[in-house]
Amino acid sequence: MIYSRILGTGSYLPERILTNADLEKTLDTSDAWIVERTGIRSRHILADHESATTMAYDASIRALEAAGRSFSDIDLIIAATSTPENVFPGVSCLLQKRFDIGGCPAFDLNASACAGFVYGLGIADQFIRNGSVKTALVLGTEVMSRVMDWTDRTTCILFGDGAGAVVLGADSKPGVISTHLHADGRFADVLYLETSMARREGDAPKKPGLQMSGNSLFRQAVTILGDLFDETLSAGGVDRSAIDWLIPHQANVRIIQAMARKLQLPLERVVMTLETQGNTSSASIPLALDTAIRDGRIQRGETLLLEGFGGGLAWGSALIQY
Ligand code: ACO
Repeated sequence: MIYSRILGTGSYLPERILTNADLEKTLDTSDAWIVERTGIRSRHILADHESATTMAYDASIRALEAAGRSFSDIDLIIAATSTPENVFPGVSCLLQKRFDIGGCPAFDLNASACAGFVYGLGIADQFIRNGSVKTALVLGTEVMSRVMDWTDRTTCILFGDGAGAVVLGADSKPGVISTHLHADGRFADVLYLETSMARREGDAPKKPGLQMSGNSLFRQAVTILGDLFDETLSAGGVDRSAIDWLIPHQANVRIIQAMARKLQLPLERVVMTLETQGNTSSASIPLALDTAIRDGRIQRGETLLLEGFGGGLAWGSALIQY
């Protein structure tokens, strides 16, 4: 049997920090409201000269260093992003250009927003298991600050910029035990980000930026993720007591707390970065993973449960022996 294993992780956060106090100056909001309803205190905002690709590059370099691999070892690049600088070529191909490598498959994964990284992990795992790829670079990178309506207090307070990357390698031992991917387009209106290519009906003006029915999404997320945990644990043949770490998508502290309760996992065993990073969409899971690996919380051999959900709606999980 061939399995995929996490060889190394890396991440990148832009230097500029935007606090809730900064937002209070331009919006009818307060630090107290944002912290109580979301758990977020600050987020990183990229500089003018940065993009999804520059952040992905910095995160990937760190992941490759941690994995002891070089550019030429990469057989597959999957970049999860909803905020690339081009429709094409994608971040994945722009990375190949920066790495000065060519030939291996490289593609962006855009459809699943905040679930993009777990989708990428699931796809790369299949490539490795079937023997066609030995080393895969899977990353999430987002410039959410550039798609926000900064006058909309219901959305712009939530998001931040950043990138996280993982190098996966083929191994005879697991590794990635299982991945579980789902979507339900019937909830497409709950969370969306229109492009300039959208069909125009009548004279209705286009709403700028990301649009979200926060309340409805909140309720959906709690139900969907509860079912996803049951499915993941049952497929992996493991009891919830076997989970050492939950690495959730960082959307809202209340959703994360509900998930920890579902797993009967103490909050100390849940990696939370949203307080200082906000919701970085597809980057949030690899950013959290890299943070907890680098600060020594996550140790080799431990069992990790990763979960993500976002626009689509799309959601997914990965059960991993690190
Ligand atoms: N500051 C102050 N008041 C605010 C703010 C703000 N920033 N935003 C909204 N309010 C007000 C509302 O206008 C409303 O006022 P009203 O009662 O007078 O009408 C009140 O606060 C309550 O609003 P709700 O929307 O009911 O607040 P809720 O507790 O649901 O919190 C939130 C909103 C934080 C968005 C929450 O619903 C949430 O986190 N939802 C899930 C979001 C999510 O999971 N996103 C992940 C996917 S992201 C992706 O895929 C890209």
